[in-house]
Amino acid sequence: MKYDFTTIMNRHGMDAIAVDAVGSEMGGAPHAPKDGFDVIPMWVADMNFATVPTVQEAVIERAKHPAFGYFIPTEEYYQSIIRWQETRNGVKGLTRESIGYENGVLGCVVSALTAFAAPGDKILLHSPTYIGFTYSIENSGYKIIHSPLKQDENHVWRMDYDDMDRKLKENHIHVAVFCSPHNPCGRVWEQWEIEKAMEIYRDNDCVVISDEIWSDIILNGNKHIPTQSVSEDARNRTIAVYAPSKTFNLAGLVGSYHIIYSKYLKDRVDANGSKSHYNNMNVLSMHALIGAYRQEGYEWVDELCQVLGKNVNYAWDYIQENFKGVQVSKPEGTYMLFLDCSQWCKSKGITIDELLKAGWDVGVAWQDGRSFHGPWAIRMNLALPFSRVQEAFERLQKYVFKI
Ligand SMILES: Cc1ncc(COP(=O)(O)O)c(C=O)c1O
Repeated sequence: MKYDFTTIMNRHGMDAIAVDAVGSEMGGAPHAPKDGFDVIPMWVADMNFATVPTVQEAVIERAKHPAFGYFIPTEEYYQSIIRWQETRNGVKGLTRESIGYENGVLGCVVSALTAFAAPGDKILLHSPTYIGFTYSIENSGYKIIHSPLKQDENHVWRMDYDDMDRKLKENHIHVAVFCSPHNPCGRVWEQWEIEKAMEIYRDNDCVVISDEIWSDIILNGNKHIPTQSVSEDARNRTIAVYAPSKTFNLAGLVGSYHIIYSKYLKDRVDANGSKSHYNNMNVLSMHALIGAYRQEGYEWVDELCQVLGKNVNYAWDYIQENFKGVQVSKPEGTYMLFLDCSQWCKSKGITIDELLKAGWDVGVAWQDGRSFHGPWAIRMNLALPFSRVQEAFERLQKYVFKI
């Protein structure tokens, strides 16, 4: 490997919730481990890898210049995105007119909702559901209607198209949030699945906010299909949202972007995002994106996906062999495992709280999956050096699933 995915980074005191909020009062934070165990951060969705060096180079280079006045995004910024989308996702014909800055993907989700739905309106989402959607959508006054994903006979999470159609109709819904790849289930939707979903959205006159923040983290030979690519109609009814933040560990710099081809949709989203003057880019975040999307970034992400693929395969095999009664669908993208511990807990007479705590006690800082709508679920972040993932699973085997 050209890049370093094995060094264990010390993030303490370096602005990292993942390690510094463990043992704090923060909602959902894992408890501190017992003496003798260090924390293995497996909850917050960021990575314990150093980002590609070109990010730091670009930010430092810009920071050497001692003025940080008002600015507009450079042509290089737009061209970096256009090149990235073309090379990684096969997107043709993207121009800067269709790209817009967003202060976070969730910020765009809410801007788009306010453009196409009124507070009190219902919005369709799949469940399990990323907790950030739940909070930002409900806190903004919208009601979420869930269409549950269902596991097929091979434990692959699938959309229930009839249920989606029925709920859109029954609830007069005209905006849906689609998560592709899906967090927390790790599905990388296939072309036919997206086509079918988009037909249902079309038939119900539904604007689609397609959150593709995970689209670069695709594992084990799977392929991301941009929602907008599946048909001309999908291209024109979709607000797609991307970011280098998940891919390159840049969430603390903030800097996402939308791609919207329909002039009507774009004008409405831009109007909401821009009028408050609350949605402006930070100059260092612009340079971070440009640094990330340099040639080195392409190689770095390829290596990252190999590392994550290995971690996921290891964890999945380990669970099949050692944690009988824990069920997990193998993620095709993202770096999240979504464990269903219902059988295991019931067979042992243990609550999910007790199981979570048993992991936290030995430093496995995993996350309560109930807030993602998995009643017996635990979410585990595998974006750590392999040695840490191994250590976590060995501790779970020795101290937790032995109970
Ligand atoms: C599906 C999904 N969307 C959005 C976000 C957050 O994006 P942002 O920090 O750009 O708002 C996350 C973070 O985990 C996520 O998993």
